[in-house]
Amino acid sequence: MGKSEGKIVILTGAGISAESGLGTFRDEGGLWAQHRIEDVATPEGFSRDPELVHRFYNARRAQAAEATPNAAHIALANLQQNWPGEVVIITQNVDCLHEKGGASKVLHMHGVLDGALCASCDHRWPAPDEMHPSDTCPACRATSTRPDIVWFGEMPYDMEEIYDHLGDATMFASIGTSGQVYPAAAFVQEARMAGAHTIELNLEPSAGASSFGERRLGPATQIVPAWTNELLSGA
Ligand code: APR
Repeated sequence: MGKSEGKIVILTGAGISAESGLGTFRDEGGLWAQHRIEDVATPEGFSRDPELVHRFYNARRAQAAEATPNAAHIALANLQQNWPGEVVIITQNVDCLHEKGGASKVLHMHGVLDGALCASCDHRWPAPDEMHPSDTCPACRATSTRPDIVWFGEMPYDMEEIYDHLGDATMFASIGTSGQVYPAAAFVQEARMAGAHTIELNLEPSAGASSFGERRLGPATQIVPAWTNELLSGA
């Protein structure tokens, strides 16, 4: 397959939503500077203090609901619409800015803020603006509702489908992620084994930068549209 078609698999992280005003995790003043991961992003933290965890996600859900997609989200949706081959977006983000920006094929491996899950019966439904420990599951009535977010120590979603996509990618792009959380941080190795061209687009080199065949540095709203325009013009 020439470069002007083939399957493009894209991984995004918090950096692609930074210019939409949503905080990243590990940058200066990021979410993990404000909250301890073990308190708000683990099953143990949730069972210890569900009110604290719901408050954390209620605040992030409200902020994400106000956020608008930026030029990078829109450029990826445009690539999906106009690239002759398949374009799959795998995101670690729990906001829905890819979808708001017009993307169609998005795999949320860490879940979504606007999803609710019943820890008792696995029922899923659209999350209300605010969730509280006293909420009951609409299906089984148990008071065991939680945000449909994948916490540390839990299995990310869609992993089988993700590895299938990586196995037949001709190009793999990693955008706005520090490459510090697995299994996402190892996707570039899977793509390399499949013979894909690998490119990292990030504000600064990620922990896995040396694994990429190509690297572009800068704000996503600048370097992502430049990259997708180049691909679509057959450059
Ligand atoms: N443009 C491009 N990249 C940016 C921008 C920007 N405007 N701003 C920040 N970045 C980059 C940073 O340089 C950093 O490498 O985005 C990355 C953000 O890294 P993290 O904060 O670690 O976020 P992420 O990699 O998505 O975290 C992965 O960790 O806490 C868990 O589940 C959580 O999904 C999250 C996972």
